[in-house]
Amino acid sequence: MDKRASSLAARLMICTALATGGSLTARGQDKAPGLTGIDRADDVVMARQLVMDGIEDEMMAIETGPSGKELALGELKAHASRISVLLTAFPHLFPPQTKPVVSSAGSPSTTAASIKIWENFDDFYGQTQAGATAAYDASGASNLDDFREHAKQLRAACDGCHAQYMQVEGPKP
Ligand code: HEC
Repeated sequence: MDKRASSLAARLMICTALATGGSLTARGQDKAPGLTGIDRADDVVMARQLVMDGIEDEMMAIETGPSGKELALGELKAHASRISVLLTAFPHLFPPQTKPVVSSAGSPSTTAASIKIWENFDDFYGQTQAGATAAYDASGASNLDDFREHAKQLRAACDGCHAQYMQVEGPKP
């Protein structure tokens, strides 16, 4: 074997070792039942978007009611209670594997979540809790004025977080 051939062989061995090491790590990661960010990242992104869609439906009912009619306090409070539950679960759907990725082809990321979420996660988490608390307080309101006051805080929580932590491409809201 001449010198060039042996150095090529050495490099091939290194490549093989790297490839094996890499796939071992990947397989090791697959064997972490429950860490869905690792093997089901797209599903996690879809789940958090569905959670947000659910929150949006409840908020629409609060803000406009069916065909613009005012809902009774009891119904309004039930909608707020569901938002509180959903917002409490929401921040747990952001494993690092679900950060937005810039594709070389320029196709938009499947997530509208901004990279800033992972750069300031404690702040993001705090904002979800503030929103959930406003919703929870609305769900316990003793009268309509009280409810509307908390609902206003809740709306401010939606808009504040989206302005800071949502990366909207194209004509989405
Ligand atoms: C603390 C942050 C935060 C709060 C509070 C919040 N959102 Fe969001 N919302 C997000 C993020 C982040 C996304 C993007 C999720 C993704 O695409 O992965 C999002 C996405 C959405 C979407 C789009 C969902 C989809 O199908 O892609 C809607 C609608 C929405 N939010 C409505 C609301 C409403 C209504 C409220 C208040 C009641 C609210 N959000 C409160 C952070 C927040």
